[in-house]
Amino acid sequence: MQTGLRFQAAKLQEFVEALLGYAGSEPQEARLVADHLVSANLAGHDSHGVGMIPSYIRSLAQGYLQLNQHASVVKDAGAVVTLEGNAAFGQVAAHEAIQLGIEKARQFGLAAVALHNSHHIGRIGYWAEKCAAAGFISIHFVNVVGDPMVAPFGGKDSRFGTNPLCVVFPRKDAPPLLLDYATSAIAFGKTRVAWHKGEPVADGCLIDEQGLPTNDPAVMHVAPLGSLLTFAQHKGYAMAAMCEILGGALSGGKTTHQETLQASVDAIFNCMTTIILNPELFDAPDMQQQTDAFVEWVKQSPHDPAQPVQVPGEWEMHNRETRLAQGIPLDESSWNAICQAAREAGMPDAELARFRGELCSLN
Ligand SMILES: NC(=O)c1ccc[n+]([C@@H]2O[C@H](COP(=O)([O-])OP(=O)(O)OC[C@H]3O[C@@H](n4cnc5c(N)ncnc54)[C@H](O)[C@@H]3O)[C@@H](O)[C@H]2O)c1
Repeated sequence: MQTGLRFQAAKLQEFVEALLGYAGSEPQEARLVADHLVSANLAGHDSHGVGMIPSYIRSLAQGYLQLNQHASVVKDAGAVVTLEGNAAFGQVAAHEAIQLGIEKARQFGLAAVALHNSHHIGRIGYWAEKCAAAGFISIHFVNVVGDPMVAPFGGKDSRFGTNPLCVVFPRKDAPPLLLDYATSAIAFGKTRVAWHKGEPVADGCLIDEQGLPTNDPAVMHVAPLGSLLTFAQHKGYAMAAMCEILGGALSGGKTTHQETLQASVDAIFNCMTTIILNPELFDAPDMQQQTDAFVEWVKQSPHDPAQPVQVPGEWEMHNRETRLAQGIPLDESSWNAICQAAREAGMPDAELARFRGELCSLN
């Protein structure tokens, strides 16, 4: 049986929009951020959902996150465009970058859009899904500037961020195939969720401050800090390094090194380089049939009937269906931290109490 709290997505979105309104966001910004965060929870990625709000409110109070700002084009070279994120909410800056990238891909068949100096852009799959919904393939290389928490293969301390990679492929009459993950063995946010729940993480994900393996997520939250490991040993490390360079350096942004280290753990700055392709321009009339045939083929691999073989993106799709029907589960510790952030943003106690009454139900 599930324990904890469950929230109806639409109500949770309303609450987050109201909270951000008190923090000072204009309605469109509040709507974009709330939609992005609640969508991450619906997709099952609680590490990048509404649990990010306390950190965003702290980043705002510390003067890093800038409200009601927008991305600005610093160079438009036709199919290649570079944008400055102006420390805006990443949910706004990346929205604007991806919209522009989609327009460029419609015009040129292929586009590259690079965004630097954006505050946290959250779950990258959200941006890929926007490209797929417009009929495009997209590939996203992302770095996290100056916030090292992952050790290089063979190293014993943190040197770079959790640098996600994301690829989407739109399908006809089926949900898109979606690869979307951190190049660390687990996302940092998943250590936060495990830490709040008092649960250990799997083997091979963490080392402590001495570089020794550990399962305790507290090493990422309480000094002396340890490090995340990359997934798949040297292979994940190599991919993380390419996300750092294509995301951070190619975008006109910054990579992580001594001069770019952030003073605050709450100020999360992302750079993202996105390549968007129109699949219709390839000479591949069987593309969709070939894709379907491959999907069917892998699913026929002998498996435990209780655990069907899935394709990338299916996990999120099932979570979305379940959570839209049954609500979004959230642990009490995360929820209390969000309520505290709401108070800090200026939400009056009476309004918070009303939302709490409408939102919460204990299973
Ligand atoms: N903005 C940032 O700085 C930042 C940094 C790191 C991660 N993130 C985001 O964090 C989120 C979580 O990352 P993560 O590393 O925890 O992801 P994860 O380990 O949960 O992996 C998710 C990927 O694996 C696929 N998948 C899951 N189960 C599968 C199965 N049984 N068969 C086939 N494919 C399967 C999913 O469809 C998805 O593509 C991502 O959305 C990522 O974009 C963001």
